Amino acid sequence: MYRPLASISNKFRNINNFSSIERSYQSSKALPDLTKDRYAVQRGDFSEIKNSDIKHFESILSSSRCITDKSDIESYNVDFLGAVRGYSQVLLKPKTTEEVSTILQHCNSRKLAVCSQGGNTGLVGGSVPVFDEVILSMQLMNKIEHVDEMAGILVCQSGCILEKLEEHVSERGLCMPIDLGAKGTCHIGGNVSTNAGGLRLLRYGNLHGNVLGIEAVKADGTILDLMSNFKKDNTGYHLKHLFIGSEGTLGVITKLAIACPTASKAKNVAFLGLESYDALLKTFLAAKRDLGEILSACELIDSESLKVSTQQYNLTSPISEYPFYLLLETSGSNAEHDEEKVSNFLEAAMNRGDILDGTVSSEGNKVAQMWQLRESIPTALIKEGYVFKYDISLPLSHFYEIVPVMRERVGDLAIRVCGYGHIGDSNLHLNVSCTEFNDNIYKRVEPFVYEYTSKLRGSISAEHGIGFLKTNYLKYSKQPEALDLMKELKTMMDPNGILNPYKVLPRNT
Ligand code: FAD
Ligand code: MLT
Ligand code: ZN
Repeated sequence: MYRPLASISNKFRNINNFSSIERSYQSSKALPDLTKDRYAVQRGDFSEIKNSDIKHFESILSSSRCITDKSDIESYNVDFLGAVRGYSQVLLKPKTTEEVSTILQHCNSRKLAVCSQGGNTGLVGGSVPVFDEVILSMQLMNKIEHVDEMAGILVCQSGCILEKLEEHVSERGLCMPIDLGAKGTCHIGGNVSTNAGGLRLLRYGNLHGNVLGIEAVKADGTILDLMSNFKKDNTGYHLKHLFIGSEGTLGVITKLAIACPTASKAKNVAFLGLESYDALLKTFLAAKRDLGEILSACELIDSESLKVSTQQYNLTSPISEYPFYLLLETSGSNAEHDEEKVSNFLEAAMNRGDILDGTVSSEGNKVAQMWQLRESIPTALIKEGYVFKYDISLPLSHFYEIVPVMRERVGDLAIRVCGYGHIGDSNLHLNVSCTEFNDNIYKRVEPFVYEYTSKLRGSISAEHGIGFLKTNYLKYSKQPEALDLMKELKTMMDPNGILNPYKVLPRNT
């Protein structure tokens, strides 16, 4: 039975907060194949690094920030998923915009390819080199410059870790408009470069709306000051948007200003068990209607997804097993008002028979534990071996259908096929886990998943971006004319094509 607000389940175990996920690909696993071999890619017409280049970089950064030791570079060459691997021999760690500019000037004049890297938590193979691109790590560009508490604006360098920013602004009564499971490792610059979505998008919208200003360095080293501290600025073309979501292919983001909303005083999280997708959809629509402005997150978790997170991290679900779970969060300014609203909503949904079981809490620790069950799913799946990950936008009327279809297609070849994600934003994460990369599964899921999504006029990348892994499928979400314009923009802004080559744009164009 559903436990009402007053008698919250005590089933929660005290688990440690592990929001800081493993920093990189698990070193205990064998290294993945080199990308060039697994995906048969041809190296572009770029120069190779010479000793004179290294000397030049050392003169800009000193030798401690120009790293050439193979073992020190290894984890920067492999992505978080262990899906792609390059073999760069140079890792640069600038601290200032001027250093980034001088590095790019040199790379552009020498035609050396460059891969910008934030926290390396990207899930589409965009953050690591494909061949021997110079890795430009932004991790030392981690200064918080300023918080305007009155206006709710944070100005910082792009290499700041999202969780650190959240801590910093929360001490001032604000919050970051973005939150995701990788918060302990990902950079705000990486978030902006991927236009990451995450768990708060339902409430605050995406980064195109929240990023107020950007400083970026173009391929030729030109520093572009597009900083602004205002939400309203209609002075000509909105150039900052070119950098939001362009995954390091049009410039390197060095600094930004971001709107930080006032932190909510009252939070409730409900973890609900449901019999079917139909019941879940009904509950979500009722939540939008009945909770209105206080609804701040809405996440679907299927039974296989909850299983993997509880099994791999030894977590306990607060309710018994159901085919589907819905995690609902409300954030508001008046605890009493919000609790009453949540109570009424849950009671009505229970009475209709839409919700079979559930628990709800406003206590920090329990709220965190419920979120932990959801946020642990991606890394729990990676622990199983290899994951084929799909991040698609689909109409709600067909949202979950692809999961059983995929189960049927891959049969016993996979360990698990599961679906979870941001149903509040029509964004499904379809995952197929197996012991190791398997060409047989690969061929069964791709391009099928993209064709399926395209037929429903969905998006083949709702929030993770295109990176390296999806370049050849971009055509399923973009018309040829749009792809041509993207190509023209790239040529105009980066004529030598040195910035994150082999990423975003289809390889055969
Ligand atoms: P990286 O992975 O290092 O880089 C990503 C891309 O941005 C690359 O193309 C890189 O070249 C480019 N880049 C990085 N920094 C810069 C810069 N300063 N200038 C120019 N280009 C740059 N994503 C979501 O959208 N929503 C989620 O809910 C979500 N949850 C996640 C949970 C987990 C556990 C994990 C592992 C990942 C998750 N992701 C999610 C994916 C990932 O965390 C995001 O894409 C994140 O924004 C990447 O940030 P990063 O700093 O790690 O960037
Ligand atoms: C999430 O919502 O957990 C992330 O986007 C990561 C993933 O898709 O696994
Ligand atoms: Zn997501």
